[in-house]
Amino acid sequence: MKTLVTANQKGGVGKTSTLVHLAFDFFERGLKVAVIDLDAQANASHTLQAFKSGLTASELFASTPPDYTQATANSKGMILIESDTGLANMDKMTLQEAGRNFQAAIKGLDEQGYDVCLIDTAPSLGVTMAVALLASDYVLSPIELEAYSIQGIKRMVTTITNIRRANPKLKFLGMVPSKVDARNPRHGRHLKELNQAYPQLMVPTGIGLRSSIADALASCVPVWKIKKTAARKATQELRALAAHVFEKMEISNDNR
Ligand SMILES: Nc1ncnc2c1ncn2[C@@H]1O[C@H](COP(=O)(O)OP(=O)(O)O)[C@@H](O)[C@H]1O
Ligand SMILES: [Mg+2]
Repeated sequence: MKTLVTANQKGGVGKTSTLVHLAFDFFERGLKVAVIDLDAQANASHTLQAFKSGLTASELFASTPPDYTQATANSKGMILIESDTGLANMDKMTLQEAGRNFQAAIKGLDEQGYDVCLIDTAPSLGVTMAVALLASDYVLSPIELEAYSIQGIKRMVTTITNIRRANPKLKFLGMVPSKVDARNPRHGRHLKELNQAYPQLMVPTGIGLRSSIADALASCVPVWKIKKTAARKATQELRALAAHVFEKMEISNDNR
């Protein structure tokens, strides 16, 4: 099982949108997908509610890992481990204890035969985000091309660099420019600056500012299920991103 986390300490930059579209795309490829929503705002849990498993994210921090057998047996190939109010208490745990428990819980998922585990995080550098980064193989950081978002990137890159000392297997797949407005000269300028500052860290497939994506998330479907011509471009972009990430993750699928 390969594990990927979407992380950026800034909110509203497309983390959840990216994560749920990866989940839908990988599921359609026939992969066995587990999605963990570590954000108390529960946005991914809303969009993926059809895949509810009865398991909650805070259970992954208990000293005994959850029993997944029932959830896996009832699943359609994708399970959602949903956000719950208990998540608020996880930031009071020590990083060591939370990290140990969460890694044991991830190992349990692996033993259930999932091909990929996708983790959505809250926009803060708290215990839950650190624990997710410590347990993951890959991290992807959606970013907005606005000044505040760009100012936060250095901190995110530093955080990932620090975590890699404790988790050397963590690979930074890069930053995904999201909500890009092609007609906004500021966005164009920022994108150019970022490509110069972080040539290795910019994901080549960005996502435009497209209202069909917000429609899809609210309607609990991927954007390719939205029957509007305006959704076509968004579909192309998100499919291209998913194909890029799929390839980089080198997911092996024994269940196809
Ligand atoms: N490419 C996009 N174009 C337009 N709106 C978007 C796009 N991606 C996300 N949104 C909307 O922007 C808001 C924030 O996106 P979200 O993915 O929830 O960000 P985050 O998880 O980083 O907080 C949501 O209301 C979502 O519907
Ligand atoms: Mg989110």
